[in-house]
Amino acid sequence: MIELIYGSQIAPQLELPEIFSILKQAQVHNARAGISGVLLFNTRFFMQLLEGPELAVDQLYSRIEQDKRHVGIKLISRQTIKQRAFQHWSMALVTPGVNNLEILQKYCKSQDFSPLALSANQARGLLNELTAASPPSGERA
Ligand SMILES: Cc1cc2nc3c(=O)[nH]c(=O)nc-3n(C[C@H](O)[C@H](O)[C@H](O)COP(=O)(O)O)c2cc1C
Repeated sequence: MIELIYGSQIAPQLELPEIFSILKQAQVHNARAGISGVLLFNTRFFMQLLEGPELAVDQLYSRIEQDKRHVGIKLISRQTIKQRAFQHWSMALVTPGVNNLEILQKYCKSQDFSPLALSANQARGLLNELTAASPPSGERA
């Protein structure tokens, strides 16, 4: 099993409904493929953690990399794991905001969250803390 984390910039003109449709599609597909994880977004950036069978995660990442709804995709981490951290979520959604400002400030120097500058450990820590602080919205796998 592997865990993969990447960051990207949301494509210009991408509207919120489109993000929710990505999420819905992800929840259906990921549940079938045995993939769990978290999608984080703010006004400009995505950061996503995917965990599951190596082949399934790598294949999904290749599709995601070609998706025109985001640009500047940067792989932050890819590693073998023994246990999942987000086993209950085919894809959880977290949005940085006023509720979790403190957590964000711990990991990001400016208030303007950018995942592209985070190390693998920082990215993992941030996702863990954000999901623990505010239970993710979305459906269970
Ligand atoms: C930021 C972002 C995250 C995505 N996450 C997932 C995901 O977790 N699972 C998924 O199936 N598709 C995800 N997608 C959509 C895929 O890129 C792709 O559109 C989808 O898998 C359908 O691929 P296909 O049209 O080749 O069948 C994501 C897209 C973006 C832009």
